[in-house]
Amino acid sequence: MPTGLYVIGSRGELDGTLRWNLMTANLVLQVAVEPKSLAVSVEAGSVTHRNLEATGCYTVNLVAREDRMLVRRFVKPVPVTTVVIDSDGRPSAMGGHEVVVATTGAPILQRAVAWLDCQVRERVELGSHTLFIGTVVDFGGPEGQLPPLLRMEDTRMSYGG
Ligand SMILES: Cc1cc2nc3c(=O)[nH]c(=O)nc-3n(C[C@H](O)[C@H](O)[C@H](O)COP(=O)(O)O)c2cc1C
Repeated sequence: MPTGLYVIGSRGELDGTLRWNLMTANLVLQVAVEPKSLAVSVEAGSVTHRNLEATGCYTVNLVAREDRMLVRRFVKPVPVTTVVIDSDGRPSAMGGHEVVVATTGAPILQRAVAWLDCQVRERVELGSHTLFIGTVVDFGGPEGQLPPLLRMEDTRMSYGG
């Protein structure tokens, strides 16, 4: 299936410590208009899955077509050692990329062309993946038209299709 490529930001907890993550994903789709709803399908056993189960919040970061490097960076969980925490206890960088924290508490990549901040409303277990359907609570991006966005076919990447 032809799809876009995105980075999902999430926040959770492991052994009493806050844990933030960024994950490359293509199984992302707008699924309703009112309320604006966005579905993401997340591998069972991934850090992102654990985070979404724990906090129900996530961001979807839209990536510019020429920014393949960004999605290549986030195909493995973000090492805790690369998460820079500022004096407010919030992450300011992850995996070498600057981030800010969204309304829900999930991280936004500064480098993203645009982002949507979502709160999970429904979950559907599908075997390998769980489909999380979230309501968009906040978003950001340029005024007017978006630049061309990264799609799977712009890369040599693939994912279990
Ligand atoms: C091109 C590509 C697309 C991917 N799409 C998804 C996806 O839609 N959902 C998913 O759960 N993992 C997806 N993955 C796998 C994750 O990026 C990778 O396994 C991930 O780091 C594991 O998640 P974690 O960091 O939350 O542990 C994709 C990987 C690649 C290379």
